[in-house]
Amino acid sequence: MHKARFISVEGIDGAGKSTHLAPMAQWIRAQGHDLVVTREPGGTALGEALREMVLHQPMNADSEALLMFAARREHVTTVIAPALQRGAWVLSDRFADASFAYQGGGRGVALAHLQQLELWVLADLQPDLTFLFDLDPATAHQRVVQGSPVLDRFEQERGEFFTRVREAYLARAQAEPQRFHVLDALRTPEVIFAEIKSVLLARFS
Ligand SMILES: Nc1ncnc2c1ncn2[C@@H]1O[C@H](COP(=O)(O)OP(=O)(O)OP(=O)(O)O)[C@@H](O)[C@H]1O
Ligand SMILES: [Mg+2]
Repeated sequence: MHKARFISVEGIDGAGKSTHLAPMAQWIRAQGHDLVVTREPGGTALGEALREMVLHQPMNADSEALLMFAARREHVTTVIAPALQRGAWVLSDRFADASFAYQGGGRGVALAHLQQLELWVLADLQPDLTFLFDLDPATAHQRVVQGSPVLDRFEQERGEFFTRVREAYLARAQAEPQRFHVLDALRTPEVIFAEIKSVLLARFS
């Protein structure tokens, strides 16, 4: 019986998270694990509704942070915790680190407020492993623009915003080096995926 594992992927818009989700899921399932693949914001009916609002409707930064954590609470209680309890693995495209990076680093929401929300919403739950796709904002922006004609509220932000988001992510990774694995996302998907597999094997087999 394999222990349930909770893995998140993080990084600025266009860093390559979603690109790697399907190959990661396929590989984890091929190792014989039951796996739930999910995303934030989203992952539940309420979360997907809030995702639409947060990505498209203007709002102040604190409201944005509160909505993200409301969606996250629903996600944790109805999807993530039950999956882990029945022994399944969970792979989430973004999780709580994204709030520290985007609402904290990007929008300037007070760290103390985010820490309070994290304590309330996550209790003891943290991912076992977080892959941080680290990429310079200029390259990430080029990838986003090439990939999608319509940009959401975050994708429309300027380079300085994403520089702050990236720095907040890296600060979080530095504070928790045992949980984070930082990937140089400038490389090809093949090279990045090979590194992901070797990390998963080294950590969890
Ligand atoms: N390593 C890579 N090299 C070059 N292009 C890449 C790489 N990884 C992803 N891409 C391309 O960059 C674009 C953005 O990738 P992807 O959607 O995976 O990013 P993301 O991190 O999920 O972004 P978002 O946060 O906006 O959802 C896609 O068009 C994808 O094909
Ligand atoms: Mg994505």
